[in-house]
Amino acid sequence: MTRETWATRTGFILAAAGSAVGLGNIWRFPWMTAENGGSAFLLVYLIVVLGVGVPGLLGEFVIGRRARRNPVGALRNLSGSRVWATVGGISAITGVALLSFYSVVGGWILRYLLVSLAGPFTGGAAYLADPGAYFGSISFGVGAAGYHLLFLALTGLIVLGGVRRGIELGTKVMMPAVLALLVGMAVWVSTRSGAGAGYDFFLTFDFETIRTNFFSILGPAAGQALFTLSVGAGTMITYASYIDEDRSLPFDGSVIALLNTGVGILAGLVVFPLLFSQGIDPGSGGPGTLFVGIAGAFGALPGGEALSILFFGVVAFAALSSSISMLEIPVAVLVDEVGWSRRRAVGTLLTLIAATGTVTAFQPGLFDFVSGTLVDFLLTGGLLAFLLFAGWVLGRDAVAEYVTGAGSAATRLATPWLFAVGVVIPVFLTFTLLTTAG
Ligand code: PFF
Ligand code: NA
Repeated sequence: MTRETWATRTGFILAAAGSAVGLGNIWRFPWMTAENGGSAFLLVYLIVVLGVGVPGLLGEFVIGRRARRNPVGALRNLSGSRVWATVGGISAITGVALLSFYSVVGGWILRYLLVSLAGPFTGGAAYLADPGAYFGSISFGVGAAGYHLLFLALTGLIVLGGVRRGIELGTKVMMPAVLALLVGMAVWVSTRSGAGAGYDFFLTFDFETIRTNFFSILGPAAGQALFTLSVGAGTMITYASYIDEDRSLPFDGSVIALLNTGVGILAGLVVFPLLFSQGIDPGSGGPGTLFVGIAGAFGALPGGEALSILFFGVVAFAALSSSISMLEIPVAVLVDEVGWSRRRAVGTLLTLIAATGTVTAFQPGLFDFVSGTLVDFLLTGGLLAFLLFAGWVLGRDAVAEYVTGAGSAATRLATPWLFAVGVVIPVFLTFTLLTTAG
């Protein structure tokens, strides 16, 4: 059977942007920002996105399009070495690890969505009365495990449809909806009184905080930058392997990074003013911040239920367009390397992740470890390996792939880019790994 490819260029951009734009922007970003000094964090994070995230994204694109294979096959075929195949295999594990906690959060979101939809029939959505207590009662345990399975099943259904009829079609529907609704909500929120304090918190650059906390901000900001761009997991290798035209990778990568950053900022422009307009301190409530804060804000507003249907609907779409990209990594490995049918690969992986995710859904401690330390470590280490591969194994071939289809401006950046991915960024990532580990 011939390998599938994207039907259109927009299809690839939307799929990759759909992978990038997700819970990382809407759920993880606001509470990371709140925990790390507001706008100070935003600035450091933006610098890492530009200096590490975007060149890293291009590194994965170059490997994927050059090899037209999943991360395992790509690293093996391009190097001729089994050792590199094993390194590529780590990305399959990363995909499973990511889904094991992402599906739990996705399950919370589906639950809030369904409960708000049922609200008018059941005399009001349960979480609106006491958001904190509600989140506490549903976040872990049997219910959480159940909704996580639902989210996982939806993810599997889309991936089962394949590259074109599943991933490309799904993201073509979901991404524009996410963008339109977020813009609408940001405009609406700006008309609320008290929103100003939210903008201040989010957007006033506080250089003093950056200066005094730079090193403690750096680790989380780097982790967040990689996570939000879906870099380091092999997702972008996999997606780029389905490209069959010579189009500009630097251009496509920039569009994807811009969309992702735009949505992150948009989400901040919705979440922070909304919280502050209700007198809710984003504080450091951890993973519950979004759920408790937003539900509290909606509870205090007229038409809160309708708004929460919109909001959690948007978030569910954003989450699904990312989770499918996590599942596609190990699916592509099994299909390309082992020769399984897509159906068999999806079925087997869903069974595995249903088990690992269920364990996570019962263990808050494990959830924190997987969603924080483990994922940061896998993404940072994964990107380090991919970039060393691009810089030292591919070398000039990486440059050749980078410039294929690229305009003259991007072409001039090819050699500096190779130096960045071969030397500068690996040093930075190693440093980040060591500071996080130590
Ligand atoms: N970028 C996604 C987000 O911001 O929610 C998360 C993600 C997806 C990370 C895919 C890694 C990945 F491979
Ligand atoms: Na993101």
